[in-house]
Amino acid sequence: MNKQTIVGRVALALCAGAVLASLYSCGGKGPATNAQSSTAGAGGAAAIPPSTGTPANPATSLSLAAQVGQQLFFDVSLSGSGKQSCASCHDPAHAYGPPNNLAVQLGGPNMADSGNRAVPSLRYQEYTPPYADLLDNPDGISAPGPGGGFTWDGRAGTLAEQATIPLLDPHEMANASGAAVVAKVKAAAYAPLFLQAYGANAFNDPAAAFKNIAAALQAFQLEDISFHPFSSKFDLYAGNKIGGNLTPAETRGLKLFSDPNKGNCASCHYQGAGLNGSSALFTDFSYEAISVPRNTAIPANSDASFIDMGVCGPLRTDHLPSAPGAANSFCGMFKAPTLRNVATRSSFFHNGVIHSLEQAIRFYNTRDTNPEIWYPTVGGMAKAKPDASFPTYGLITTQYVGGKVQKFDDLPAAYHGNIDTQMPLDGRKAGSTPPMTDDDVADLVCFLKTLNDGYQPSSQPTSGPCTN
Ligand code: HEC
Ligand code: HEC
Repeated sequence: MNKQTIVGRVALALCAGAVLASLYSCGGKGPATNAQSSTAGAGGAAAIPPSTGTPANPATSLSLAAQVGQQLFFDVSLSGSGKQSCASCHDPAHAYGPPNNLAVQLGGPNMADSGNRAVPSLRYQEYTPPYADLLDNPDGISAPGPGGGFTWDGRAGTLAEQATIPLLDPHEMANASGAAVVAKVKAAAYAPLFLQAYGANAFNDPAAAFKNIAAALQAFQLEDISFHPFSSKFDLYAGNKIGGNLTPAETRGLKLFSDPNKGNCASCHYQGAGLNGSSALFTDFSYEAISVPRNTAIPANSDASFIDMGVCGPLRTDHLPSAPGAANSFCGMFKAPTLRNVATRSSFFHNGVIHSLEQAIRFYNTRDTNPEIWYPTVGGMAKAKPDASFPTYGLITTQYVGGKVQKFDDLPAAYHGNIDTQMPLDGRKAGSTPPMTDDDVADLVCFLKTLNDGYQPSSQPTSGPCTN
């Protein structure tokens, strides 16, 4: 059957459901409906506090809790440095992702400490269920596996739980304690709004107040339309709306994206009906090991014994191997993130080692056929004049004679068996033909750009690489 028809129908049916569920209008048209009644999803969304009273600001449809959350989200005084808010790393002008091309951001009391991981976008997080070792896969075909939860390793069960991590992390907002955060909110201009939302005695118990701060940040992310605008070209296309005609290049890209024998991207970045009534989030919330190269630009990685293995730690601590190297099927797994707005990013994967979308796709395409352009070679000699056929799009642009490629250099050998073997990362031999051609890679980039929010049909280019 024609793929376009299937995708269009699925999205239409789900859009109708989503509107009934009161939160969103599909295709980016129209404002959010009364957000006070929002009940998006289960799990991650379940802990929304009941909103209290009428909005303090009648111009907003946000609940009081979410209005507090909005103030908190942009408040730089909530950091040890006095210079950093949530928005400093999760910039609304960059789809709530990082505002720059750094692999990891700076933070800490003097804004001099480096984080360990790339900053994810905060868009479309609201459907994410809490982490489970055996989460049902929304595709209805794949066996249940690790899925759900927030951060790259799923260690936070709700958005509220997640919000406490950066507030207290010494490399991020670096507050000494929850009580220290509460004291800052108490001194803030919006303290009266906090009291209006949570009661006249809301500052008396610092532990309860800190919980409410986290809940308010969650409410803001759940309710504000800017976190789930569904205003991409793809949304127009999927909803059969005017302006949603994909160009030939984008159409070929979509086909590659879902073709199990080519990109096969959809098998993890799932674009069908998702969990909790969602649709086309371009993730199935699952965790896999794809073994991106170690990023030497991350200061923590200068210690060879520090290896970020995702679900099995060390940042997450409930799935640690029983001894170093002991069997553990969770090592190396990271969350398959949504690909919505991915083309607005300039650092990719959990460690930000890749800096362009094209390069990210090249990695998928040639990790196995040309591991020497992604992973370091030891013991070789640099070739004075590289072969004309030596690819220049990898992380390593020196061609070596002899030596050994350290494939999967950021995961101990004991865990290489955890690495996923689906297309396009199917473990084919070095030197063999990659699954996709150069033209395929270009078409896939064109398609992924249709997932950027804020699309204006009138701005559709009539020339350029993605038109034909
Ligand atoms: C210094 C930069 C920085 C600041 C400041 C920051 N974050 Fe983050 N945020 C990150 C990084 C890095 C991650 C990924 C963490 C991980 O995987 O361990 C993340 C992850 C998240 C996630 C999980 C997203 C997902 O894909 O699962 C949420 C939600 C989030 N942050 C919300 C917030 C909120 C709310 C604040 C303010 C209280 C905040 N962040 C402040 C860097 C930052
Ligand atoms: C086997 C599951 C799987 C398949 C198939 C897959 N991905 Fe991914 N993708 C992941 C996982 C897991 C991550 C995160 C890995 C990490 O950070 O270590 C990821 C991350 C990404 C990122 C980085 C996003 C960000 O915010 O940093 C991009 C871009 C991406 N994938 C694109 C694609 C494309 C394009 C395809 C098809 C060619 C594809 N993926 C196929 C699982 C998959």
